[in-house]
Amino acid sequence: MSSMDWNQQKGSGPQGYEEFLVPAMFAPFAERLIEHAGVGDGSRVLDVACGTGVVSRAAARRVGDGGSVTGVDLGEPTLAVARSRASEEGAAIDFIQSDAGALPFEDEAFDVVLCQQGLQFFPDRGAALAEMRRVMKPGGQLAVATWAAIERTPFIALANALARHVGPDAAQMMHAPYTLGEGADLARLIADAGFAEVRVFEETILCTWASHSRFAERAAGATPIAAALEGLSAQTRRDLAEEVAGELAPHAVAGDRLSATMTTNVALATG
Ligand SMILES: C[S@@+](CC[C@H](N)C(=O)[O-])C[C@H]1O[C@@H](n2cnc3c(N)ncnc32)[C@H](O)[C@@H]1O
Repeated sequence: MSSMDWNQQKGSGPQGYEEFLVPAMFAPFAERLIEHAGVGDGSRVLDVACGTGVVSRAAARRVGDGGSVTGVDLGEPTLAVARSRASEEGAAIDFIQSDAGALPFEDEAFDVVLCQQGLQFFPDRGAALAEMRRVMKPGGQLAVATWAAIERTPFIALANALARHVGPDAAQMMHAPYTLGEGADLARLIADAGFAEVRVFEETILCTWASHSRFAERAAGATPIAAALEGLSAQTRRDLAEEVAGELAPHAVAGDRLSATMTTNVALATG
């Protein structure tokens, strides 16, 4: 299966992610995740696969002067957007380039470790979870979110249209964020990494994206799938956009926006 290669995330991709996908879906889920994790005054928080930093910013609003927030991600272009958005907000967050499988921190350095929609992309999920446990203090809190099945989201329309107009690799990439859709699989991975008190539940939020008619182009352009669209003819791009907009017409709302639910698994555990 072609996964999403986040090292390909560059150009306007990270900014597009921050502008189109973050307000619609990642920001509302981030607020819930830090609530579930109990991030509060004085917490030392690590945000693994922080992307453009939405979870880190939400945590930074809660930890106060006595706490700290650190975000790690693979992609430097993505981290550049994270740093710039945090500085616009006046949030003191340390963003560090690192692979989740080899975290550059001392043992037991954090009270809370968060990972929103990152685990499904790691080549060795078990190794990354073991690293999260190593850097968490004993009794610390883990909170991990991974999307439920793609069929429960508007992105199935995009995946199907990519299969028809671009090819199987692009379609498989669109499926990659949804490859840890079974809550039981997520729970098992976390328990196998040695965490205790593992609890997994679903959370559903009605999300609103800023464009219905350009959903395909803006959603794909905000991820590494953008690279697969580069060589397409203008006609193929139009066909792709029209087909996705047509499929998603029942979800169109005023102002050419799109409104649909997204469901994530949320896993909580202690270190
Ligand atoms: C869907 S984004 C989620 C970003 C962020 N957590 C959010 O909620 O917006 C997935 C992120 O995982 C990062 N990622 C993928 N593989 C990684 C790895 N092995 N180590 C660290 N980050 C990784 C990508 O660079 C990307 O920013």
